[in-house]
Amino acid sequence: MDANVFPVPEAIAKTALIDNAKYLEMYDRSVKDSVGFWAEHGQRIDWIKPYTEVKDVSYDPHDVHIRWFHDGTLNVSANCLDRHLATRGDQTAIIWEGDDPSESENITYRDLHARVCRFANAMKAQGVKKGDRVCIYLPMIPEAAVAMLACARIGAVHSIVFGGFSPDSLSNRIQDSECVMLITSDEGLRGGRKVPLKANADKALETCPSVTSVVVVKRTGGAVAMTEGRDVWYHDVVAAASADCPAEELDAEHPLFILYTSGSTGKPKGVLHTSGGYLVYASMTHQYVFDYKDGDIYWCTADVGWVTGHSYIVYGPLANGATTLMFEGVPNYPSVSRFWDVIDKHQVSIFYTAPTAIRSLMREGEEPVQRTSRKSLRLLGSVGEPINPEAWLWYHRVVGDSRCPIVDTWWQTETGGILITPLPGATALKPGSATRPFFGVVPLLVDAEGNELSGATEGNLCIADSWPGQMRTVYGDHERFVQTYFTTYKGYYFTGDGCRRDEDGYYWITGRVDDVINVSGHRMGTAEVESALVAHPKVAEAAVVGYPHDIKGQGIYAYVTLVAGEEPTEALRKELVGWVRTEIGPIASPDVIQWAPGLPKTRSGKIMRRILRKIAENDFGALGDTSTLADPTVVDDLIDNRPDA
Ligand code: WT7
Repeated sequence: MDANVFPVPEAIAKTALIDNAKYLEMYDRSVKDSVGFWAEHGQRIDWIKPYTEVKDVSYDPHDVHIRWFHDGTLNVSANCLDRHLATRGDQTAIIWEGDDPSESENITYRDLHARVCRFANAMKAQGVKKGDRVCIYLPMIPEAAVAMLACARIGAVHSIVFGGFSPDSLSNRIQDSECVMLITSDEGLRGGRKVPLKANADKALETCPSVTSVVVVKRTGGAVAMTEGRDVWYHDVVAAASADCPAEELDAEHPLFILYTSGSTGKPKGVLHTSGGYLVYASMTHQYVFDYKDGDIYWCTADVGWVTGHSYIVYGPLANGATTLMFEGVPNYPSVSRFWDVIDKHQVSIFYTAPTAIRSLMREGEEPVQRTSRKSLRLLGSVGEPINPEAWLWYHRVVGDSRCPIVDTWWQTETGGILITPLPGATALKPGSATRPFFGVVPLLVDAEGNELSGATEGNLCIADSWPGQMRTVYGDHERFVQTYFTTYKGYYFTGDGCRRDEDGYYWITGRVDDVINVSGHRMGTAEVESALVAHPKVAEAAVVGYPHDIKGQGIYAYVTLVAGEEPTEALRKELVGWVRTEIGPIASPDVIQWAPGLPKTRSGKIMRRILRKIAENDFGALGDTSTLADPTVVDDLIDNRPDA
């Protein structure tokens, strides 16, 4: 066999839920009889009123609609909590590991249920009603999961904003969906450093008239301002609330959450996910992709501020009655062995993280890994960006002691759950490939004109047909949903990714083909960084592209033209980096700023990003045709003055 192929290890094959024959059989049925397949698998969760309809989907640009199980009713929080009480009330639902290694907590299903019920009642007492939007701006503490499930319990729609976002970014997201409540904490704690969440929230709320109440979790005890009549302490309102809160009966298509994500143009979009189909898909992928069985200790290192945290820390695992670990800290605090120490401490068997974390830990050498045991591990996962074969091989050999398969899971905020992935007991692995589609998923590669390409080839990745976890709309802007995903290639969902398919039918994601960049697994629209830059009084124009970065995958490379008379100094460069951090958040900090007296533009004034990308990549041989530029000399100037990235 090919040396670059890793067959299913024997120990895994013996116990895995799905072997290759079963995968092929189930996959075949899932695409030939999609309705029958999902009618059956929709029953993996509890319905209050069973569905009789399975699927109602149209990708016709004049009438895009996506509905699954739509005459059924259910409650997502009851599926994640109540239905486990009889069989596993005393089992740990959440293992919480604090930023400081001396802090951790095990929360049983019974305890989590009681906490969720109390907080759901407290939210109602604050005036939150079914359908209201509630913004969650919390660190990775149990109250984040409690708040999500409490919203789901009463039919409120949560919108989580990552704690690393700035007051401005928070404010824009709250305004877009007109949230009525904000749930935050005094401060966050990451790597021993405090993050001023409440202070950020206060600043954001200056421009958010829709928010009438703010619930504040005491995390660090740091001093915060409390606004009379608006702000209440979490511990006060839950103490006053009853632990009896019946779960609302909600339609399958009742909105569960909104999560903002970056696109190639304009401001971030509110990706809307609904209840029934989402939960079926999140729980099913969690079970099969991670081969989850009772007794496993499962750890996904993502933040609940991203979709990975929604589907694979909270909803998927809890719907499956799993034990899910929630980590407040960072991989390098108090030491670069932290991940592996936590694995030993809690006997983690399934570990799911991002390539950027692997690459940064790989740089620290093998010793910090090898001084830990990791004997409890049996499966590793990767998500968020392409994993380079070098990092894959290190993860496999050093972290997994060459014993654990790696599931490289490709998906998106929009897809709700994993679409392309190995199954541990079924799929021989190739380092760097997300391998094969999950059940019901039909990937398609198309050329620029939308022609479907067959066999081993490379093209733009589309998905034919729908799957239950698919997003339903862009909140408040259905037209943007249609435009973004369903007009480029008729009849298909367009992912925005480029992809290669090899002779074995394995998929290799090559990265975004639009103006979205992926920085440490975080998605960033180049347009957002550009508009932050041009908002600075000394900046006349800016163009932002991604470039290859050893640790982050992609770094942010900004070309900046200053207004006439301004001097390009080192101090100004620092000021602009700080400016973008304050406008958007630390994840958007430009890695390189190049002063650009002029930008390469066509005669009609369009910036030629292709050229800017090549210069950022240090690849001057491949600039291509520059004859259509209004002023071709700007290119030579940019090449000559390229800073060392
Ligand atoms: C984009 C989606 C999926 C949850 C986290 C990111 C890239 C994601 C992989 C992977 C190669 C990947 C794609 C995708 N991506 N996973 N396994 N291999 N690329 O969600 O922020 O919505 O970003 O992340 O480019 O389009 P997101």
